[in-house]
Amino acid sequence: MSIKTPTVKLSTTNDEMPLVGMGMWKVPNEVCANTVYEAIKAGFRMFDSSSDYGNEKESGEGLRRALDEGLVKREELFIVSKLWNTYKQPEQAEIQIRRQLQDWQTEYFDLLIMSIAPRMSVTVDPAVSYPPGWFNAEGKIELDRAPLHKTWAAMEKLVSLKLAKNIGVCNFGGQLLADLMTYAEIPPAVCQIESHAYLRQQDLVELCEAYGIRIMAFSTFGPARYVLPRRRFVWLELGVPSATQVDSLLTHPVITKIAEAHHVTTGQVLLRWFTQRNIVVIPKTIKPERMVENLKSSTFDLTEEDIEAINGLDKGFRMGNTKVFDPRLAIYA
Ligand SMILES: NC(=O)c1ccc[n+]([C@@H]2O[C@H](COP(=O)([O-])OP(=O)(O)OC[C@H]3O[C@@H](n4cnc5c(N)ncnc54)[C@H](OP(=O)(O)O)[C@@H]3O)[C@@H](O)[C@H]2O)c1
Repeated sequence: MSIKTPTVKLSTTNDEMPLVGMGMWKVPNEVCANTVYEAIKAGFRMFDSSSDYGNEKESGEGLRRALDEGLVKREELFIVSKLWNTYKQPEQAEIQIRRQLQDWQTEYFDLLIMSIAPRMSVTVDPAVSYPPGWFNAEGKIELDRAPLHKTWAAMEKLVSLKLAKNIGVCNFGGQLLADLMTYAEIPPAVCQIESHAYLRQQDLVELCEAYGIRIMAFSTFGPARYVLPRRRFVWLELGVPSATQVDSLLTHPVITKIAEAHHVTTGQVLLRWFTQRNIVVIPKTIKPERMVENLKSSTFDLTEEDIEAINGLDKGFRMGNTKVFDPRLAIYA
């Protein structure tokens, strides 16, 4: 029996979006199709992907298998993908998203997110390099002069073409969001941001609430994805040594105490801290037992004191502040 997850409404279309979905970043290609299939079997109805994760084709294969076996109907799923930084020129967006839809073997995305702003790299021909990543052969980022408002108009066109039902942004701060709201014909339904107990981003959460924009949090376990159990630093390529400067949230005494009181895992406490505030989470796992654990994270309630205690861990600690933002690495095309 699969586990049913609660949903929240999007203010733009009234579409229902699951509160707990599955993140697809770093799901290895060789297990990806099976991970998607097993996740659907367990009860996941939402997947958060991107061409940059390099596994959309395999994700589509897992999805197809689940649909063919009648585990689920397409309309019961909520597939999220992103327009990557190298496809910001309006004429490129539609070509690229059609390719991603083909990989997913589906006709539309339930939500399409405009990837990390404000970095805009020049278009890389997918026939030459796919996924294109960040850097050219000289290890530089070639910045394109694609203004956000034109890319957003291209995103809106994808809605009119029925290739995306909802559109959103990620890694926007308050100022970018406020600017976007001045010209958007279709306002963003979702803002996807890094958030965990060390990085609450409360101001941004409140701004989004005021705009009716749903928050989707990523890296909700904090440094878990960067650090192995013995704190060995594993994710050097984007240069985030800061992840080792903080203690794991999964073994943090404040979280452990709350987990023991509710007879749940620390991972479930970290997820519930979001979902109890109607913030969507997308924990990534390739382990079936953790899929079940993460799906069941909405089956208990934290007390006000629990929430306050977790709020108290906030230290504005950001992992996504990587050296790819370093202007010394950038050149203008
Ligand atoms: N828009 C963006 O810029 C952006 C950036 C980063 C991430 N994202 C999205 O957000 C998703 C999630 O973020 P994330 O991958 O950074 O980190 P995350 O979901 O916070 O952490 C993933 C790590 O936690 C482990 N894990 C999963 N469930 C667990 C549990 N119940 N207990 C203990 N450990 C558990 C996973 O290992 P196992 O797989 O071994 O279980 C993995 O190492 C990504 O997959 C991606 O879709 C978006």
